[in-house]
Amino acid sequence: MTMNLTQCTLAAVAAAFSLALAASAQDAQPSAAPLPPASTRTGVTYATDIKPIFDANCVKCHSGDKPKAHLHMDSLEGILKGNKWGPAVKAGDAANSIVVKAAAHQLKDRDGWMPPIPNRAGAKTLTPEQIGLVIAWINQGAK
Ligand code: HEC
Repeated sequence: MTMNLTQCTLAAVAAAFSLALAASAQDAQPSAAPLPPASTRTGVTYATDIKPIFDANCVKCHSGDKPKAHLHMDSLEGILKGNKWGPAVKAGDAANSIVVKAAAHQLKDRDGWMPPIPNRAGAKTLTPEQIGLVIAWINQGAK
């Protein structure tokens, strides 16, 4: 099959258009991973919902005499106290809490993505569901 001039021009325009679309889709890629949605669970508390997640994936490095980044993640007090850069959790403001930014890979510097991967602590990157629960917990007041 041979194309006439009009078909040929249309094909070329279509090809250029799809290339431009692909390029703009790439430009639109956010630099940080999108924040997972907050869990819809109500009454989320540290003791019942959050401690097990942090114990499994954060506490080995963030407890004891020399916690990494001087941050204790093994108690609610430690998390709220934070370190010299401030509290690790801002009650009511999950999006601006460093714990969420670190776990959801929102920090530009990958050294701050938590837990570090790979690691020897058996700690796993939190799932979107786990992060959603942490977000709900903080936005509900970090009780
Ligand atoms: C294998 C050890 C390890 C585990 C597990 C770990 N961290 Fe960290 N964490 C570190 C180290 C090391 C640093 C210091 C990184 C740096 O200064 O670049 C750090 C720093 C941080 C900081 C400070 C980041 C900043 O930029 O100020 C936060 C917040 C944090 N961790 C939260 C967490 C959370 C939440 C978890 C679990 C989901 C976790 N960490 C699991 C080792 C760990």
